[in-house]
Amino acid sequence: TLNNRNLAKQLAAQEAVKLVKNNDIVGLGTGSTARFALMALAERLKEGLQIRGVPSSLATEAQAKALGIPLLPLGEVAQIDISIDGADEFNEELQLIKGGGGALFREKIVASLSKNRVVVVDSSKKVAQLGAFKVPVELVPVACRYVLDQFEALGGQAQLRYKNDALFITDNQNYIADVDFGLIANPEELAIQLNQIEGVLAHGLFIGLATKVIMATGEGLLVFEQ
Ligand code: A5P
Repeated sequence: TLNNRNLAKQLAAQEAVKLVKNNDIVGLGTGSTARFALMALAERLKEGLQIRGVPSSLATEAQAKALGIPLLPLGEVAQIDISIDGADEFNEELQLIKGGGGALFREKIVASLSKNRVVVVDSSKKVAQLGAFKVPVELVPVACRYVLDQFEALGGQAQLRYKNDALFITDNQNYIADVDFGLIANPEELAIQLNQIEGVLAHGLFIGLATKVIMATGEGLLVFEQ
């Protein structure tokens, strides 16, 4: 049920926040699971922990500010000690699909800057093969038609994302296409192919960008490591 899923998300997030050390620079993810991590971090701040957060979206920035978490701007940070973020899918190789919330580009920058990249999920996110969840791709609007055609050439069925009858606009003023490639036999190869399309800012395939996945199930926590 929804409540059990929320409880699992919260448990995984709380476990991840235990890994944060004093004076860490902490990458703050986006989405409903990452939000639980922000709340757990705020609790630890009340107990005296000192950290600075780096937000992966405008929504997370607003949440962090409301919770009193001190922030550093993403564009000025050279290294992040630990990042905690959710995912839409993950497999045993710790490859991810992210971007259900549309924040994939900044999330990818945060993960790329991070030494420890912790992903927090409930058990619904674990898959044998990535791809049931459509791959979100952020694209620059002026290249839209070209980029969508390139997805088709790669065998993908692309749909531009809408929100309330209008095109969804990212924090970076771009569009998101949700691309159905079916089950993805070779995520590394597809990631490279998507990166080669001019007009693609970033795609939701995260390869080599997770060091640990903390998954909460009805029975407890499961940790997957590199
Ligand atoms: C945001 O763009 C996404 O990458 C989220 O991290 C992902 O969608 C997971 O979100 P939930 O924790 O809400 O499932």
